[in-house]
Amino acid sequence: MQRRSFLSMIFAIIGSISLGSLAYPFLKYLAPPKAEIKAGKQTIRKSDVGDAKEILYQNTPAIIIDRPGKGLIALSRVCTHLGCLLDYDKQKKRLICPCHAGIFNLEGRVVSGPPPKSLTVIPLKVEGEDIVIG
Ligand code: FES
Repeated sequence: MQRRSFLSMIFAIIGSISLGSLAYPFLKYLAPPKAEIKAGKQTIRKSDVGDAKEILYQNTPAIIIDRPGKGLIALSRVCTHLGCLLDYDKQKKRLICPCHAGIFNLEGRVVSGPPPKSLTVIPLKVEGEDIVIG
């Protein structure tokens, strides 16, 4: 193998690796977040919730919130913009995305910021002292 063709091959390999390492995050950025929640039930004690409790439902981070005057709601904590995890701000009664400042109300609807749609609401019902989610 001649030196010139060897160097061309090395540069082609390095170029391919560089292009791949740039393309992967870009494609991941463009892909929609997977916030789908499959059917299934989960039970949690009502006394364990308090004002709000973060849970993992079907491998999806979620939160149960006891809304003053409106009762309990279970929402996905996965931001509908790019999939960051939302923080619950009890004082402001909002779910806030730390990535791009998307804000959701306690019904899961977008209040401001870039999120394109509402949060996934997880069905929930109270059975005695238990909350059944899903
Ligand atoms: S990921 Fe939540 S606003 Fe961008």
